[in-house]
This record gives sequence, structure tokens and C-alpha cells, in this order.
Amino acid sequence: MASTVPTCCHWVASSTRFTFDTSNSVCYVKCAMEQHVSIGQWLLRLTVAALLGMSLAACDSERSSEPQQPVAAISPTTMADALFSIAAAYRNVYANEVVYRLQDVEDVIKASEQWHDEKALPLPAQIFRMGAVLAAKQTDAFSYTLLSKWPLNKDSGPKSEVERKGLDRVIENPTKPFYSNETVGEVEYFTAVYADIAVSPSCVSCHNSHPESPRTDFKQGDVMGGVVIRIPMR
Ligand code: HEC
Repeated sequence: MASTVPTCCHWVASSTRFTFDTSNSVCYVKCAMEQHVSIGQWLLRLTVAALLGMSLAACDSERSSEPQQPVAAISPTTMADALFSIAAAYRNVYANEVVYRLQDVEDVIKASEQWHDEKALPLPAQIFRMGAVLAAKQTDAFSYTLLSKWPLNKDSGPKSEVERKGLDRVIENPTKPFYSNETVGEVEYFTAVYADIAVSPSCVSCHNSHPESPRTDFKQGDVMGGVVIRIPMR
């Protein structure tokens, strides 16, 4: 989560934190007055305050009122789905418009695991991981990773029961994401798994011909793995 929260009325950045109510699957912002406001309401207030260039008088009436019912909220499912749609879109564009076009169609430049030394294009999975590492440096509100039951990189196989089950489910039904809760260490997470599809001919040819590949019969459109998104519940 962002470490600094803009001050709105009596809201104090240091005492503002995000919580998750499992009874209604809603993320809340908890402010200095121990009131809970849904993230949707909170973002709306900050936006209106920013637009008006002033702090919100509405916050004051909140002190004496009953606990607020959320008017709009971002559920972990919605958040994970939105994050996945961005990750998948960039992954698809890079695989098709950069790697496939420049390597397989135009024969301009190759993609290689040793992209740095060989002055080649990074593999789609390497781009994905570099992005995930950068995002993890900026926020601990979520994390994401790319796994497979047939990994070229032995570190990219499923490790937890939820990851194993999630990969099996999205292989069975690629259009339906798998959602679950899991505890890793001391932290409880909402975990979502989405099918990673062979969207480009280059996905198939590279994996099928790779010497480390445990599977060599991928076809375009097959599920090759899964994108795992984790959101800590706190
Ligand atoms: C030019 C070769 C190449 C292309 C093209 C390619 N991959 Fe990979 N892929 C790899 C290699 C090598 C790894 C392991 C890289 C690593 O972890 O450092 C990998 C990793 C993965 C992983 C993580 C599990 C594993 O195998 O280690 C998935 C899932 C995956 N690729 C799916 C895809 C999909 C889907 C596409 C097309 C969008 C694609 N790949 C395109 C070579 C390729």
C-alpha cells in the first residue's frame, strides 16, 4: 500500500491503514477516528477534494454519524481482475507485436534468454518478471508471478497447494479465473490464478523446441501456464 496518504480533514496519514472485511469482501480505509470507510468512498472523496482544491467538509459530519455503509468498493476480485487485464494485454502486445513480428516475421532481431549479452530482445517471461520485480519495489499492495506445470525454468513450477489447484483449474477452464485464500508465513492473501495462453506462434515454437521443455506439443491457444496475483488481506 502507499505509505503516504493525502490528509483529508481529520484523516491522519500515519494512522490511516487499509483493512479487509471478510464478511462482505470489501476493502476499507480506517481513519484516525476509528471509522471505516470503503476504498471506493475514500477515493471518491479524495478526487472531489482535489477537484475542488479544498478539504472535504463532509468528513466532519461523519464523526457523529453511524458507521458508514460502503456506497462503492473495490473487492479483491475486481482489483485482481483489473491487474491481470493490464498484465495480459502488455504480455500479448509484446509477444505478438515485438517478438513475433521482429523475430519470426521480419527476421530483424532474435529473442534470447541471454538478451543482455547477445544484444537480443528479452523473452516475454523475462519482461514479465522484470515488471513484477519493479512493481514489488513500488508497492506491497499486491504481487504477481508467472508459473507453469511444464516450466522451462524449474523455479517457475507451482509451490503451494493453491497454486497447484489454480493451475489445474485454469487448464480445465481457461476463461474462468481461480480465486482462493491462502496463508503464506503470517500473512493471509487473496490469491487469483489466470490462464496464460499461447497467444502468439512464437510462444509455441520456442517452448516446444526448448531443450529444457517438459512438454513439446503446445499449440496456439493452449494454456501454457498461469498468472498468479496475490493481495494481502490486512
Ligand atoms: C524465444 C523463446 C520464448 C518465447 C517466444 C516465449 N517463451 Fe515462455 N519462456 C521461455 C523461457 C526460456 C522461459 C523461462 C525464462 C526464465 O524464467 O528465466 C519462459 C517462461 C515461461 C513461463 C513460466 C514457466 C516456465 O516455463 O518457466 C510461461 C508460463 C511462459 N513462458 C509462457 C509463454 C507464453 C504464453 C508465450 C507467448 C506469449 C511465451 N512463453 C513466449 C521461452 C520463451
